[in-house]
Amino acid sequence: MVLILSALKTKPGLTFVGTIGVLENVLTTLIPFVLVSYLLVSGQSATAQEPPAGAESEKAAPGSNLVDALAEQKIDVLLRKMTLEEKVGQLVQYSVGQPAGPVTGPTEYKDMIIKGEVGALFNITTARDSNAYQRLAIENSRLKIPLIFGLDVIHGFRTGFPIPLGLASTWDPGLVQRAARVAAREASATGIRWVFSPMVDIARDARWGRMAEGAGEDPYLGSAMAQAYVRGYQGDRLSDPDSVAACVKHFVGYGAAEAGRDYNSVEISEHTLREFYLPPFHAAVKAGAATIMTAFDSLNGIPTSANPFTIKEILRKEWGFRGLVDSDWTSISELIPHGIANDPASAARKAFLAGVEMDMVSSFYHDNLANLVRSGQVPESDVDRAVRDVLRLKFSLGLFEHSYADEKKEAGAMLQPESVSLAREAAERSFVLLNNSPASNGLPLLPLSSDLKQVALLGPLADDAANMLGSWSAQGRPQDAVTLRAALVEKLGADRVHYAKGSEITKGSDEQLAEAVKAAQESDAVILALGEDAPNMTGEAASRAHLGLPGRQLQLLEAIVATGKPVVLVLFSGRPLTLPWAFEHVSAVLAAWFPGVQAGPALVRTLFGDSNPTGKLVVSWPRAVGQEPLYYDALSTGRPPGKADLTRPPWEGTDKYVSRYIDEPNSPQFPFGYGLTYSSFRFGPPQISSASLNAVTLNSGLLDEKRASNSALTVSADITNTGTRAGEETVQLYVRLEGTSTAQPVRALKGFQHIKLAGGETQRVSFRVGPDAFALWDDHNKYVVEPARVRIWVSPDSAHGSEATLEIAK
Ligand code: NOJ
Repeated sequence: MVLILSALKTKPGLTFVGTIGVLENVLTTLIPFVLVSYLLVSGQSATAQEPPAGAESEKAAPGSNLVDALAEQKIDVLLRKMTLEEKVGQLVQYSVGQPAGPVTGPTEYKDMIIKGEVGALFNITTARDSNAYQRLAIENSRLKIPLIFGLDVIHGFRTGFPIPLGLASTWDPGLVQRAARVAAREASATGIRWVFSPMVDIARDARWGRMAEGAGEDPYLGSAMAQAYVRGYQGDRLSDPDSVAACVKHFVGYGAAEAGRDYNSVEISEHTLREFYLPPFHAAVKAGAATIMTAFDSLNGIPTSANPFTIKEILRKEWGFRGLVDSDWTSISELIPHGIANDPASAARKAFLAGVEMDMVSSFYHDNLANLVRSGQVPESDVDRAVRDVLRLKFSLGLFEHSYADEKKEAGAMLQPESVSLAREAAERSFVLLNNSPASNGLPLLPLSSDLKQVALLGPLADDAANMLGSWSAQGRPQDAVTLRAALVEKLGADRVHYAKGSEITKGSDEQLAEAVKAAQESDAVILALGEDAPNMTGEAASRAHLGLPGRQLQLLEAIVATGKPVVLVLFSGRPLTLPWAFEHVSAVLAAWFPGVQAGPALVRTLFGDSNPTGKLVVSWPRAVGQEPLYYDALSTGRPPGKADLTRPPWEGTDKYVSRYIDEPNSPQFPFGYGLTYSSFRFGPPQISSASLNAVTLNSGLLDEKRASNSALTVSADITNTGTRAGEETVQLYVRLEGTSTAQPVRALKGFQHIKLAGGETQRVSFRVGPDAFALWDDHNKYVVEPARVRIWVSPDSAHGSEATLEIAK
């Protein structure tokens, strides 16, 4: 855990974000409370990696709401009254509405609800519909147990925020927490009290479409984001009517799908699982996440929806998780094609005995679980335990007392002005400026001057409201989204904006292209909006083997660049795109992801300099698909390329027998953590408070939650704004451990801070580094600090900066 030194706390404009660090005095008062909450949730002392958290986030661990003695007594009473079928009913969940996967079970639920055979429904999106279903449960079923309604609320409900990859690119957990809160308020107004979010899968492969839904490749940042979502959704109390239960997914390893192909098998060693893939889940559990969803993948040969090691051993025993474990969509029936069950009863038995408590959609629990109990293959006590977890969730949410949504208040909860303005702020902070080289006047092309007489706005995404909402847009409506075209016309007036589509996303005609070229020729500058089709090319079931611009868009780009006009390329995508030609030939490139309802205003403010970009990449941006999976926190090989020239084939030189490609550098186009601003910063060398630490002391600090948050070391660096324009930089702290029992990443993020500097200003940024920044999973899969040489960087991204070194002695 890394703490931020309070020495700078009085500096105006310095924001503290993204580490568990809060100002020291606040920390002292909060730790006992947080610790108690944590222990309630986990039931054990911390031995695993402590994640970072946003400063705002330390207030509570809301999942402790799940522990309530009175509710447990009420559950006892209910359990005694329930028939076996009614118990199984609580473990059954169906989708009503637009299916988002294969449908194998029943599609008509009215009678089942009345008989008490359904515990949860999802994909209902209005208060009227949720109330209608709820009335069946409350007024017509024997025990009147309320239904719980869920939905994929992934980056906003009606107020669409940037896709999660964009939200993570803000490196601002406080902001993400506020965005999740807005989503909770809107969703709960329709009766949805359970959101299938956050997706905390580590994503190292841009071919995998679901990279769009997560926080990228890094476990430290991913942990901070995981906690931010959970705290935002669940609020201070789950029972507050505008709180929703989070569902952390997909447990676990799903993002490592072989070859980036969705639903594909996964092989991850236990060491890698613990060091990289599990931390964001553990962080979410520590933040009190109420539910968790298992995944589609098989992990080391065992499907994760029937994997007792990950669910029972790690999640339940090691982490003490007390919430509900849900399957993914038909992931229980998929045990048959996985090949570990030959019939529905075996699939249901394997999933259930492994610890999956609720069956999403497949109906295998509904059809088989009662018989499995009667035939002695599943103990009824296990069913009782699972039902208890479902009922506990319903009690915690207050569903027994307040079962219905208030239909009169529903509309008023949506698109509140402060929600929309938060969506704009989030969008602005999500943009990552990739290129900004000088135009003909010798100055960087961006920001554009408002005095431009004529601007050509081109490209299939310049005026596409639906795509601005990204994949999984919940109740987002295209008519609520402001496009780049609308916002640009608003700023410059229609007569100064020459719009031409240029091509469709995946097709296009010669006429469209010619029209766009003409518009460019007649203008002073071009804004070109290119990219992917969000619902079809990003998110679930949207893996790509080619990562370039689809259709004729590259041809359009080349034709526009050939006009010689200054070109700003705005890329809309759910992943990095391999566009080496563009990065070489286009002066300014902005990664905009899919920015949400305020896409247009946020982009126009950024392009014209009313907002100074601050976003940083949370995934390594590849030069070529063949580099994937590509991630900065890789291990070194025994033959690192060192100073070899990787830009040319090795047979022209001597650089052959090293780990490399013969036809592409190893390095990404842009590294993790990278992002330009309109300001420029200089990083001074890191200074450390001690050149030597002691492993015994660090280990005893690790075992003690409170002491683990204490500083073992202070790392500081002077950061200077070398330009005249005020700006914000995300200062990143990286560590490498050498000489340890297991090989450690060449760099691992251990802290970050946002710093705002006036032109010419210098400030010292300090990180207080706790013992867990030096901890690793050793050769016996134990979480410890070992004697090591430590290299430390304070840098603007994962590939630059000078280093300091220290020793951890025995
Ligand atoms: C399948 C997806 O994998 C999961 O993320 C989603 O929550 C469920 N479908 C429900 O729609």
